[in-house]
Amino acid sequence: MHELASMPSTEPWYQPTGNEVALFEQCHQRRMAVMLKGPTGCGKTRFVEHMAWRLQRPLITIACHDDLAASDLIGRYLIQHNGTVWQDGPLTRAVRQGAICYLDEVVEARQDTVVVLHALSDHRRMLPIDKTGENLEAAPGFQLVVSYNPGYQRMLKDLKPSTRQRFVAMDLDFPSAENEARIVHHESNVDLATARGLVSLAERIRKLRDRGLAEVPSTRLLISAAILIANGIPPREACYAGIVSPLTDEPSMTSALRDLVNGTFV
Ligand SMILES: Nc1ncnc2c1ncn2[C@@H]1O[C@H](COP(=O)(O)OP(=O)(O)OP(=O)(O)O)[C@@H](O)[C@H]1O
Ligand SMILES: [Mg+2]
Repeated sequence: MHELASMPSTEPWYQPTGNEVALFEQCHQRRMAVMLKGPTGCGKTRFVEHMAWRLQRPLITIACHDDLAASDLIGRYLIQHNGTVWQDGPLTRAVRQGAICYLDEVVEARQDTVVVLHALSDHRRMLPIDKTGENLEAAPGFQLVVSYNPGYQRMLKDLKPSTRQRFVAMDLDFPSAENEARIVHHESNVDLATARGLVSLAERIRKLRDRGLAEVPSTRLLISAAILIANGIPPREACYAGIVSPLTDEPSMTSALRDLVNGTFV
């Protein structure tokens, strides 16, 4: 399991796209759990990193997958030469430390794993640890944050209403054109005019979503093309490699997207 505990010394830069900073701060103060909804690469992880820094809380990130068991979150007994010792899992550590615990792609986790979050995400703020008999109360500052990509595998997986309704949900979609250009410029060091060109290209590609393109380019993809450009790769080539090719394998779609690139960077 992938897990990170961190307390960065410098501010993770975040460009707000709406009222999300104030809303998150209120949720933190009122001890409410938060669900971040939005497409891949729209800034969910960066936002949580930024908020943890603003609130001066340690951040523990857990990437969810369909093999994730409750014991991976809570902890387990480890067998050692002189007996067994209990080892806290990442969720338990966050509960004890008063950290922000960020469960990335929570829909990927099995239902029986997600259920362990229930008593933590309502007014009880408790984590029952069956194996040790401990009933742990969350330390002040503990906050549960989950992320969720609504478009992805929607038919196969969803969260139960009893889980969803324990969270304040925040929609983080792609930013406005001017904000997105600022983000691309900041993250890649490409000049602002080129960043605006990449954003207008993305806007044209995003319109093809209902015309045969399954995945549209995220801010993350624009940043990778921008980094290539900032480091001397010609813009068209950077867009083919950094944007077009990651999005599709289909020859006619590839050529349609390349035409859009050629129309943007002449
Ligand atoms: N509002 C923003 N402010 C600053 N950087 C941003 C913002 N939105 C996106 N980014 C940039 O885009 C990159 C991708 O964002 P991030 O990793 O937070 O996406 P995500 O929503 O967590 O995606 P995924 O669902 O794939 O995990 C970040 O590394 C950052 O460089
Ligand atoms: Mg993320």
